[in-house]
Amino acid sequence: MTKRNLAAVCFLVIVLVFSSSSVLAENYVLPSLREIYKDYFHIGGAISVASWAPKTLISHREIILGQLSSLTAENAMKPDYLQPREGVFNFREPDNLVSFAKEHGMVVRGHTLVWHGQTPDWFFRDKNGQLIYEKDQITDEDRQLVISRMEAHIEAVMTHFGDDVYCWDVVNEAVSDNAAYIHRPESPWVRTIGEDFIKIAFRKAHEVNPNAKLFYNDYNAVAPYKRGRIHKLLTDLLAEGVPVHGIGIQGHWGVDGPSLADIEQSIKMYAELGLEIHITEMDIGMGDFTEEEQAERYRQVFELFKKYSDVITNVTLWGIADDASWRGDDDPLLFDRNHEPKPAFWAVVDTDKPWYVNKAEYTGAVIFKNAAGQIFGTLKPGEYKAADLSFSLADVARIEVGTGYMMSLYESEDRTGDAWHFVRTDLFDGANWPDKAKAIAIRTISAQNIALNKPVEASVLSERAHRAVDGAADTSWAPRATPPYWLSVDLQEPYLLYRWVCKLHGTGPLSRISHSPFNAADFILQVSEDGINWTDVDVVEDNTASTTERDLDLIKARYVRLFVTRPTSLEVNQNLVVYELELYGLPAE
Ligand code: XIL
Repeated sequence: MTKRNLAAVCFLVIVLVFSSSSVLAENYVLPSLREIYKDYFHIGGAISVASWAPKTLISHREIILGQLSSLTAENAMKPDYLQPREGVFNFREPDNLVSFAKEHGMVVRGHTLVWHGQTPDWFFRDKNGQLIYEKDQITDEDRQLVISRMEAHIEAVMTHFGDDVYCWDVVNEAVSDNAAYIHRPESPWVRTIGEDFIKIAFRKAHEVNPNAKLFYNDYNAVAPYKRGRIHKLLTDLLAEGVPVHGIGIQGHWGVDGPSLADIEQSIKMYAELGLEIHITEMDIGMGDFTEEEQAERYRQVFELFKKYSDVITNVTLWGIADDASWRGDDDPLLFDRNHEPKPAFWAVVDTDKPWYVNKAEYTGAVIFKNAAGQIFGTLKPGEYKAADLSFSLADVARIEVGTGYMMSLYESEDRTGDAWHFVRTDLFDGANWPDKAKAIAIRTISAQNIALNKPVEASVLSERAHRAVDGAADTSWAPRATPPYWLSVDLQEPYLLYRWVCKLHGTGPLSRISHSPFNAADFILQVSEDGINWTDVDVVEDNTASTTERDLDLIKARYVRLFVTRPTSLEVNQNLVVYELELYGLPAE
């Protein structure tokens, strides 16, 4: 059987595994990133099998089998794990990982041979047990001793794993964060062997296994403060003919940085050196951002990776689900602590569409639950007659409508007469009418901002009020006055509003932060049918978030007003800044 056939068979098995578990209950099969990205790059994950870490190979087995085509040991191939004492090797757990990978048609990335972290002291002690890098005088004998240990480690480890490990992070994190140095000066390898340790390591690795792809791996490898030095190091190594085949960009990132421009420019810089690129340790911490913002960030970086898939050949996530991430509370991965797919997962399923559209295509746009909280039906977008459904609406206790969709229930089969509309998550309370509903329609709701460029007025600084609805991220309505004051938008026809977004001080081009005391603290969204009588529909209090994004329950409005009672959290400061007020809704007709 060829490798390709083997992979296909494995995939069938995976589907079976999934459909026998929780996924069946929700009536869908989770898409596989390994399959989706197979023509672009490997999708990898870091597996914890070290004795002090939970064994995700067991606890997260379903996700690993369903999603990944490449595995990395999170700790179990590091020097302190493999050779805790000189000549004493510990291969049991990494061997398990390798045989699991082989059994399931996955490749293994080796991480890491030479690093200043997680490397035992004995590498650096002289015959008398003294740490060589602490000595006043380091002799040539001392230096040779450390070189011989480094080479012996590389030889033993790479020989042991042979071609079962297809690439190695030969040297990890050797470049300094300090602009004054290229090589991290405090590294025990630099302090004992000198800067040449990198060349020696790569040459040895190539000699031991000429088939293995050899990588230099580092963090902040796309950050302008550091990438120039990484680039210089690699350029010099290549100029000397040192066998470096690839750069590992770790990818421990945030929702707000590094910028896509920096990532893209770095990919080009490294690719121009003729290097293969692996994203080796991807995780995007939530920080103060929402799961949706994290999803959008994942979507953007995967879209970029696809664009450069001629040079990017492996994208490895550092962990499997948020309960097994080294970044603790930062929930940086694609699966949550219950191993359920997050918006970020759905976002990378198809980077051409919003995450919720991808999700709805698999899970259905609407989920029906009974009084016991069990899902008994899901529907994809479309139009249905109640009589044709495979389940009965009489059992409905709760309806969950996916983001981006609206469900309408009609009194008559031809969808004339009375209708009830639902957006987002709604508790169904009236016990008797869904079974009276004769037809259902599930439609995407427009993602257009209906406030854009509509006529506006304000009680202060009215001549600049249009800047809050001009769609430009860098123009604002920024009055300084004693509150309360307001800004109103004339939508020109009645709409049913389902969401509003207010972008405040911290979203501005100069700050770009998620929270700030300069953001409006207390404000109210009001609606009106005549522009005279106003009703409060949403009240925000003690806010510090730069973006307020809230759902509305299909509120009917022709006029919408932002009524501000406290322009910042700082009593001494009365400068309100509104970069944008966005409204989303459907024409009421
Ligand atoms: C981390 C592991 O995830 C943790 O479990 C361990 O305690 C410390 O190391 N850069 C690297 C990885 O190259 O080896 C690190 O892994 C994360 C940063």
